Amino acid sequence: MTSTVHAMRTQVGIIGAGPAGLLLSHLLALRGIDSIVVEVRSRAHCEARQRAGVLEAGSADLLRAAGLGARLDREGLEHGGIYLQFAGQRHHVDFRDLTGGQAVTVYAQTEVVKDLIAARLAAGAAIEFGVSDTEVADAGTDRPVLRYTGAGGGRHEVRCDVLAGCDGFHGICRPAIPAGLLTVHETSYPYAWLGILADVPPSTDELIYCHHPDGFALHSMRTPWISRLYLQVAPDEDIAAWPDDRIWAQLRKRFALPGWELKEGPVLEKGIIPMRSFVSGPMRYGRLFLAGDAAHIVPPTGAKGLNLALADVAVLAEALASLLTCGHTGLADAYSDTCRSRVWRATHFSWWMTTMLHATPGASPMEAQLQLSQLRYVTSSRAAATTLAENYVGYPQLKTAAKTYP
Ligand code: FAD
Ligand code: PHB
Repeated sequence: MTSTVHAMRTQVGIIGAGPAGLLLSHLLALRGIDSIVVEVRSRAHCEARQRAGVLEAGSADLLRAAGLGARLDREGLEHGGIYLQFAGQRHHVDFRDLTGGQAVTVYAQTEVVKDLIAARLAAGAAIEFGVSDTEVADAGTDRPVLRYTGAGGGRHEVRCDVLAGCDGFHGICRPAIPAGLLTVHETSYPYAWLGILADVPPSTDELIYCHHPDGFALHSMRTPWISRLYLQVAPDEDIAAWPDDRIWAQLRKRFALPGWELKEGPVLEKGIIPMRSFVSGPMRYGRLFLAGDAAHIVPPTGAKGLNLALADVAVLAEALASLLTCGHTGLADAYSDTCRSRVWRATHFSWWMTTMLHATPGASPMEAQLQLSQLRYVTSSRAAATTLAENYVGYPQLKTAAKTYP
């Protein structure tokens, strides 16, 4: 039996409707470039998946410049610093003071994705949710191909000028690059995070990163009514071993501070998040470009994963516009090196924050003292605090040229 393959043509075939794929499609449309986005999961799944929560100043500006700032400006919570807690004391790191006025915005990845999907669909863009058997082929030629089976069952073949692999860490695009051409740097950590979303107002005005002998804890938030909290757990931890009472008891213990109380409420969601640092390169093979988690992963302690994904596609949109509109290859050729410089900075920062704040299983008393000394230094030396602050708000600062997005 022969089945029909629906043939199509577009300029950029984008694999993955996470923040990277969706923003790339949007930025390309602003430059008059057509694309299709294909996504294995449903729209509802993409919009509900709990992940990152903090936007660097440059990421928020990028979204605003792209016309995506209305709800972000209404509902985003601007934070001018964080708290670092250790040895029973809580210290404020004042980003505004240390970085010449910069801040970050608490606006969840779920909301960024909702805004992007709404904007793309309102513009009549092609986003295919619920696809299967995605394939990329002929990346080494100037007519690469994207194939997928649509949610309705039909097989599609899309001839493109360029493919963008925005399909996350477990996607198909990075493996499509011949193995001998990729260099991978990777490290894993001897712990994971247990994350909860709780129906309770945050007990803090800014995020609390807490070092404790029982393990790291983080108090974040989604809105003035919903809290997001994390606990360091073993990498092979079984979520079934963590009933809500046990989670709250550990959170209370790790965040304990005289005169301060952790508000508790119903747990809406919980899950275990693995921790890994992974950098692969180059982020390009012929006409296939990788962006976001498809090329690199950081542990969440530095709040960098989402920001790196957005920064990659800001660079990629420029490069593809120059390539496809003017035939200039310079920016596309520089794409991988341009992104990887920022990626390595964020990879170092995330590793530094992670190793400074977590309890390392089996650490010697010597290592434990060195860790505390580092924390005391960061909270007492202006130079050390500035290092944390300028990396957290985004280094180098992502510049959005206003003229870029008409
Ligand atoms: P993704 O968001 O992963 O999007 C990739 C998309 O591609 C997905 O929608 C996927 O379904 C789709 N896809 C995959 N394979 C295919 C295929 N074959 N065909 C079509 N589509 C495909 N960062 C932080 O800063 N703080 C956090 O707290 C935090 N928590 C996280 C929790 C989890 C469980 C995970 C996985 C990540 C977390 N991150 C966090 C990292 C951050 O969310 C990511 O860096 C960010 O999502 C990267 O965006 P992306 O678009 O590159 O990839
Ligand atoms: C979150 O709100 O989910 C969050 C915030 C800061 C981090 C990690 C996660 O470093």
